Amino acid sequence: MQIQLRQVVKRFGAQTVLDGVTFDVDTAERVIILGQNGAGKTTLLRCLLGHYRLDEGEVRLAGFDPVRKRRQALSEVAFIPQLPPPLPVSIEALIRYAHETTGTNPRLVKDYAARFGLDVERHLAKPFNQLSGGMKQKFLASLAFARGARIMLFDEPTANLDPEGREAFRTILQEDPFRETTMIFISHRIEELNTILNRAVWLDLGKVVNDERL
Ligand SMILES: Nc1ncnc2c1ncn2[C@@H]1O[C@H](COP(=O)(O)OP(=O)(O)OP(=O)(O)O)[C@@H](O)[C@H]1O
Ligand SMILES: [Mg+2]
Repeated sequence: MQIQLRQVVKRFGAQTVLDGVTFDVDTAERVIILGQNGAGKTTLLRCLLGHYRLDEGEVRLAGFDPVRKRRQALSEVAFIPQLPPPLPVSIEALIRYAHETTGTNPRLVKDYAARFGLDVERHLAKPFNQLSGGMKQKFLASLAFARGARIMLFDEPTANLDPEGREAFRTILQEDPFRETTMIFISHRIEELNTILNRAVWLDLGKVVNDERL
């Protein structure tokens, strides 16, 4: 089991955002998490990543508690956030950093970016936070793909992509390097990912209300 959530409760003040969420994700499963705005989808991913302490329950990522064993839990995980972080560092520095910390191959980052129609060489000196919204998503996706992590977590990864970018995203994830990768997507567009997905989990008012094999 690559991902486990057991009776997860997360509150912000008086608001219970996750109210006893339980489900497991196995190796090579491709799960979409669906639910209205404010349903708790991003909060759930952030709990998995150890960004929040839980009020109740437990989560395991690659078998590890992401708060107490952060390094081990995250060593096999690539994550694309819903809102890209406002990094003032250059594209070139980010590629180098990814190479130094996770062994990500810079050539592969550029190749994936090219498939998104993003010419990284032209923007190497540019600070990440000066890219357009879609360019940021394409670049972060390229870094994630090139990293070759066993678990990939995507929070609305295609929200800002142009139609070609969406098509490239879907095509790449169906290719050989990702055959054994476990993926969780948060998206409102199930049809856009239908060739990749094999499971859908619906969240409503902080609870899992439906869990379906596709
Ligand atoms: N850090 C926080 N502090 C306080 N409340 C928060 C925090 N993060 C999220 N919330 C609240 O938790 C609820 C769920 O937010 P969340 O971001 O998880 O929703 P979501 O399902 O990802 O929605 P969307 O589809 O709009 O991205 C919302 O009511 C939100 O205001
Ligand atoms: Mg969200």
